[in-house]
Amino acid sequence: MANTATIEIGGKKYEFPLVEGTEKEVAIDIKSLRAATNGIITLDSGYKNTGSCESAITFLDGEKGILRYRGYSIEELAEKADFLEVAYLLIFGELPTKDELEKFHNDIKKNSIVDEDVHKILNAFPKAAHPMGVLSSLTSALTAFNPSSVNVESEEDMYNAIVKILGKMPVLVAWTMRKKQGLPLDYGDDSLGYVENILKMMFSKPNHKYENNKIYVDALDKLLILHADHEQNCSTSTVRITGSSHAGLFVSLAAGISALWGPLHGGANQAVLEMLEAIKADGGDTAKYMAKAKDKNDPFRLMGFGHRVYKNFDPRARIIKKAADEVLEALGIEDPILEIAKGLEKEALEDPYFVERKLYPNVDFYSGVIYRAMNIPQEMFTVMFAIGRLPGWIAQWREMRLRKEPIGRPRQLYIGETERSFVPIEKR
Ligand code: SDX
Repeated sequence: MANTATIEIGGKKYEFPLVEGTEKEVAIDIKSLRAATNGIITLDSGYKNTGSCESAITFLDGEKGILRYRGYSIEELAEKADFLEVAYLLIFGELPTKDELEKFHNDIKKNSIVDEDVHKILNAFPKAAHPMGVLSSLTSALTAFNPSSVNVESEEDMYNAIVKILGKMPVLVAWTMRKKQGLPLDYGDDSLGYVENILKMMFSKPNHKYENNKIYVDALDKLLILHADHEQNCSTSTVRITGSSHAGLFVSLAAGISALWGPLHGGANQAVLEMLEAIKADGGDTAKYMAKAKDKNDPFRLMGFGHRVYKNFDPRARIIKKAADEVLEALGIEDPILEIAKGLEKEALEDPYFVERKLYPNVDFYSGVIYRAMNIPQEMFTVMFAIGRLPGWIAQWREMRLRKEPIGRPRQLYIGETERSFVPIEKR
């Protein structure tokens, strides 16, 4: 293949270099386009065909259903690694040695106390507040209590901000849930593993000795790995572009949490359960919801189905579906919701509308079944997505800063009014 792309505009030809990634993906480097063509730009609503950056963190092949973190397949990592190991891999690029992982975890533990004054902010929220809004606010507020984490220029400052947020975010997640439940806050136990401690902070009771359930720990560890990164999705792109103005790590993450909240993105895991429960309440009438999903006049979409990149099975959905079966069996739970989900999946995968559009179950379709089996409240599902995606957001933010990428500032095509003169109000 030639190493340039030629665009002809008004009889004039313009050449642009082709760049190739390590997985043989090819991009047209158009950084000189506007200057060379005296102002012509590209237009690509939703960036379906536009790369925002070069990245060495996560590789996806949507057609083949491949997902790799730093070259390791998601299947291997979900099977053989633990979440903190994967967090280290995503952020620093290599699987840690035993000593490196131990130091990383100890540095996180040293930074897992949240200033007591954060309670005042937490207590100001009504119990009905959605946990994603609370989490985004508290994450942003952490900046005020950790000013050294704002202007992180050196790799050392960056490392310190990273272990701080990895230590404090799980506390905020647990506190957000307990606040809604009217429970006293739990401060964790640094003798526990990272994921064990998250569950302890979420579920301990003041009048009962807390015992971790290994089934829950293993299930959550796997789910957090599966959610840990996913290249330039909506919330990760938000974290990168926010950080590109040199806004601090914590506020960039708060922006990512807000973007993740949307039901078309991370909010889908909660919306899937709401949909499945509606179908159950409707006597299991999946046909009605399939019809709604296909009706162009109905804004309803089959939540947990479809993906911007995967036009094949989302590899994470396969793993989660299997894990859902295993967790429910191990817990001895017969959940009709899982059977409805499987029935819906089967119908959709045989329906021409979904087949033609290559709509498959995505990461959000089955995850809620497991969270539900673990007694995690539905409104906390997207918060669990956020705690899983945290290392990915951090890794992407760090990569953007270390590569000294310019501030993100897309162009636009103006389609508004052309110049006109002001009309005094008495003449309007
Ligand atoms: C996540 O990007 C990431 O990597 C995200 C994520 C991550 O790990 O960060 O993977 C996590 O966000 C997963 C997606 C969770 N969202 C949902 O499950 C919500 C339901 N899905 C859809 O809203 C939709 O599929 C999106 C938002 C996920 C993708 O939308 P696109 O890529 O913009 O696709 P599209 O809207 O252009 O759809 C193409 C066609 C359209 O029909 P036509 O106009 O061609 O007739 O497919 C239809 C859409 O109407 N379609 C659906 C559908 N998804 C797409 N129709 C019914 N139900 C659906 N779920």
